[in-house]
Amino acid sequence: MEQPVRDPRARLPVAKVRDDGAPSEFGGLLGGSAAMQRVLAVASQIARARATVLITGESGTGKGALARAIHRMSPRAQGPMISVHCAALAESLLESELFGHEKGAFTGAERRRQGRFELAHGGTIFLDEVGEIPPATQVKLLQVLQERRFERVGGHETLFVDVRVIAATNRDLAGDIRAGRFREDLYYRLKVVHLEVPPLRARGDDVLLLADHCLSRFARDNAKPVVGFSERARALLREYHWPGNVRELENAVESAVVTCTGDRILPEHLPLGPLDPRSRVVRVPGAKLADIERWAVLSTLEAAAGSTSRAAEVLGISVRALQYRLREYGVQGRRFRVDQPTGSPSPPPGGTAPRSASR
Ligand SMILES: Nc1ncnc2c1ncn2[C@@H]1O[C@H](COP(=O)(O)OP(=O)(O)OP(=O)(O)O)[C@@H](O)[C@H]1O
Ligand SMILES: [Mg+2]
Repeated sequence: MEQPVRDPRARLPVAKVRDDGAPSEFGGLLGGSAAMQRVLAVASQIARARATVLITGESGTGKGALARAIHRMSPRAQGPMISVHCAALAESLLESELFGHEKGAFTGAERRRQGRFELAHGGTIFLDEVGEIPPATQVKLLQVLQERRFERVGGHETLFVDVRVIAATNRDLAGDIRAGRFREDLYYRLKVVHLEVPPLRARGDDVLLLADHCLSRFARDNAKPVVGFSERARALLREYHWPGNVRELENAVESAVVTCTGDRILPEHLPLGPLDPRSRVVRVPGAKLADIERWAVLSTLEAAAGSTSRAAEVLGISVRALQYRLREYGVQGRRFRVDQPTGSPSPPPGGTAPRSASR
C-alpha cells in the first residue's frame, strides 16, 4: 500500500502545556484547571506515539475535539484523520464501512470498496461511540489492533495498515463488559492510553476561560460589539452545573451574543436550565465560609420552591438580605421553582450538610 507523502522536515506544532498554573492550550483545546491540565499534559506526551487511545467522558466534554487535537499534534498530522460514528451505522453496514468489501461480497456490493481503515493509512482513525460496536465487529477490530491486519468483507487478501486508533465513548464500558455487551480483551487493547475528560462542572474557572473564548469568537462571527460578561453573568456561569458541558456553554454563549443588545452579556441573556444547588460540592471542613453560606441559601431557596419570603424565614434573615445575596450570586429566585413544593434538599455529593459545620 502506498505511503502518503510526508515531509520529514515538516515541523510539528508545539503543545503549550504549562506547569506554572497558567492556562494550557493543546491543539486548540483550552484548560487552566488542574483536572484539565492533567489531561492535556498526558495528551501532549502521547501525541507523538502510535499507542491506541481511549477517551471517555460525558457528552459534550470535548472527546472529539481532543481526538482531533491529538492527531493534529502528532507526526501523522499530514496524514488523514478518518472519523467513524459507530452508533450511526447499522450493524450490517459498520463492518464493511470499517474494513471495506469486495465486489459481490453481499447483495448490492457492485464494486470493491475501500474501508475506513484503509483510507486512514498513514494517519489516524477515530472510532466515536466505540461502545456501540456489535460483538462480531468487535472481534475483527481486536484483530486489527493486535496485528494491524484485516481482510475486506468477502475478501481473502490480507491488508496491513499503519493507523493510529483513537476511540471515544460516553458509556460505562466496564459496565458493558459485566453485562456481556463489550469484549474485555478489546477494552484493554483500546485503553493503552486512557484519557478521562472531566465534566465542565469539575473544571473550576475553566468555564470562564472558555466562555470568554467563545464570546470573542461569536462576537466576531456575528459582528456584534459584545465585549464581556457582567459580574452577575460571570457568577451565574460559574454557579451553573452544565449538564451538557462545553457544548452547552458554547450554545449558551452564542445565543447570548446574538440576543444581547448592549456591550455586556447579562444573566437573562444566557438560556440555562434550572440551577442545581446539589451540584455545588461543599466539603466540610475545608470549605470557604462563603461557599457554605451560598450552598445553604440556594438549597433552602430550592426547598422553599423559589419563595424568597419562606426561604428568608427559614434562614433567619430578611427578604432584602436574601435578595441581596441572590444578586451577589448572579441568581434570580425564579430559577428555583421546582416541581416538588416541599422537601429538604439532599446533601451535596461528596460533602456534608452545612449544618454539621456549625456544630
Ligand atoms: N477544552 C476545550 N477548549 C475549547 N473548546 C472545547 C474544549 N472542549 C470542548 N470544546 C468544544 O466543545 C464542543 C463539544 O466538544 P465535542 O463535540 O468534542 O464533545 P464530545 O465529548 O465529543 O461530545 P459527544 O459525547 O456528544 O460526542 C466542540 O465545539 C469543541 O470544540
Ligand atoms: Mg463527540
